[in-house]
Amino acid sequence: MKIAIVFDSQTGNTAQVAQAIKDACEGHDIVAFGPPPQNVDQAELIFAGSWTDKGFCTAEMKEFLHSLYGKRVALFGTAGFGISELYFASLSDRFKAGVPKGNQVVSSFFCTGKMPQTIRDRYEEQLKVDPDNARLKSMIQAFDLALIHPDQNDLNQAADFAREAMKA
Ligand SMILES: Cc1cc2nc3c(=O)[nH]c(=O)nc-3n(C[C@H](O)[C@H](O)[C@H](O)COP(=O)(O)O)c2cc1C
Repeated sequence: MKIAIVFDSQTGNTAQVAQAIKDACEGHDIVAFGPPPQNVDQAELIFAGSWTDKGFCTAEMKEFLHSLYGKRVALFGTAGFGISELYFASLSDRFKAGVPKGNQVVSSFFCTGKMPQTIRDRYEEQLKVDPDNARLKSMIQAFDLALIHPDQNDLNQAADFAREAMKA
């Protein structure tokens, strides 16, 4: 199968997931691997991934998705606040909404991805001013939980997702 893996990654988490997907596609023809935009004319299946930027995929990924027609697409992403499957499901819906009609979204996969320390520092600063802010405390908790992700289990799940998408 001719496969494209197009991904937007700023700090490396989504790139790690993309690499796990690529490894799982061994034996297939990888016609594109890198950030959007990519020429995917030949691709029979496109894995399209992005880090989560304010609740959505990146503008570059949105633009790339918008350019697709008649393609089978498997969406993936990483998110810093990945503490619930419900959140991942809502992200999946939002990413999916960026794929125009005339394409088929075969599946999606999300996992947690660590965030830059500057984000935690900012929360800590805000907490100094507002020490009882429960929302800030839970954001710091989410930050700390994300620190080890993506881990090997996430990457194994990404590989399973890739294998399933190729069968779909
Ligand atoms: C400016 C900015 C905005 C972000 N917005 C969100 C968000 O809305 N939801 C979320 O879960 N994570 C958010 N994150 C966290 C990243 O999506 C997460 O750390 C991701 O794994 C980074 O992937 P990358 O290493 O491939 O760039 C944000 C990070 C930054 C720097």
